[in-house]
Amino acid sequence: MGGMTRREFVVSAGVASLAVAGCARRVARPAGAMAPGTETLRGAAAKSGFLVGCAVDVHRLRDTPAYAALIAAQANLVVAESEMKFGPMRPSPTTFFWDDADFLAAFAEQHGMKLRGHNFVWHRQLPPWFAGYVTPANAKQVLVEHIRAVGGRFRGRVHSWDVVNEAIQISDGLPEGMRDSPWQKVLPGYIDVAFREARAVDPHALLVYNDYGIESDRPDAEAKRQAVLALVRGMQRRGVPIDAVGVQSHITAGQMYGPGLKAFLAEVKAMGLKVLLTEMDVNDRELGPDVAMRDRVVAETYASYLGMTLSDRNVIALLTWGITDRYTWLNGEDNRKDGLHNRCLPFDEDLRPKPAFGAELAAVERR
Ligand code: G3I
Repeated sequence: MGGMTRREFVVSAGVASLAVAGCARRVARPAGAMAPGTETLRGAAAKSGFLVGCAVDVHRLRDTPAYAALIAAQANLVVAESEMKFGPMRPSPTTFFWDDADFLAAFAEQHGMKLRGHNFVWHRQLPPWFAGYVTPANAKQVLVEHIRAVGGRFRGRVHSWDVVNEAIQISDGLPEGMRDSPWQKVLPGYIDVAFREARAVDPHALLVYNDYGIESDRPDAEAKRQAVLALVRGMQRRGVPIDAVGVQSHITAGQMYGPGLKAFLAEVKAMGLKVLLTEMDVNDRELGPDVAMRDRVVAETYASYLGMTLSDRNVIALLTWGITDRYTWLNGEDNRKDGLHNRCLPFDEDLRPKPAFGAELAAVERR
């Protein structure tokens, strides 16, 4: 906590929520409380029925009140950053670990939030037993049982499921750009199986295909966008249910995002699908160390990216991947070379709003 005691952290987190667009009024308040008249993301979103929120670290949600209060104040849609993935949920082939997912679902309900499910199928964070246990002979049964059990437990309580995450990796060299993932190796038709089962288990949840690297105007992103569109078209041709595409939006500070993504959003809409921005953060690793400069460029990138994407009414939700720079995956993976913490999210390490928060709020208010 940057040299703070736990109490100082909690108090400063209360102060955190009092500022908008980087102009903090330092008044001690209970953590997460907003000054009268101070707008929150969820307050702004409520006016238009938009969904706004973030990925949540469920362990910290349990043991860090200021963090929980901030999320309760700002989000009307949450998703577990890790805890509902296959590995964390499956200690063994025959058992399930429910505590974290149950806790998050209850938290969401208590605070009038919607819950996203992330995810049924991914090539990462599989349990240690997966490789030795799952074979072409039993893979379909393992997948169906998993979706039936997890989707069934949360039936009717999940706004949208990331049924399949990150299935395209063109450099793997497989047909249609498919990723050479552990699921692909044992069950080449896994995507159809997963979506069909997800629909059968929870008919009211939106079924989402979620991917990254489809935001920029670089040729690799364009190729990946085309592969995602082809994947979804193929599913529709085969009658496989799908409702939306998740554009993760792990983007880079100072970069412009434009025509490629806009055309993709239009194409997805023409296919009858919704879009969610599922994992937004703005990586500042290419910028120098100056904090004010980083915060300004990151905020400008939030503003221009969200200005472009949220002007499309078919984009129904925006989640950042975390809410505070204190807890971001970018300090673990893909971190800055100078060892400084990334300032990629709307709230800083002490849970104070940054210019990025102001940019996000303004974009949500325009909906
Ligand atoms: O909870 C365990 C803890 O019990 C254990 O002692 C510790 C030791 O390594 O690990 C903890 O789990 C870690 C988990 O995050 C929770 O902190 C995992 O090792 C770590 O691999 C995991 O990283 C997550 C990563 O996905 C892999 O699941 C990141 O937090 C999360 O931000 C990242 O999220 C992904 C999205 O799901 C998909 N899109 C890209 C995004 C960023 O990589």
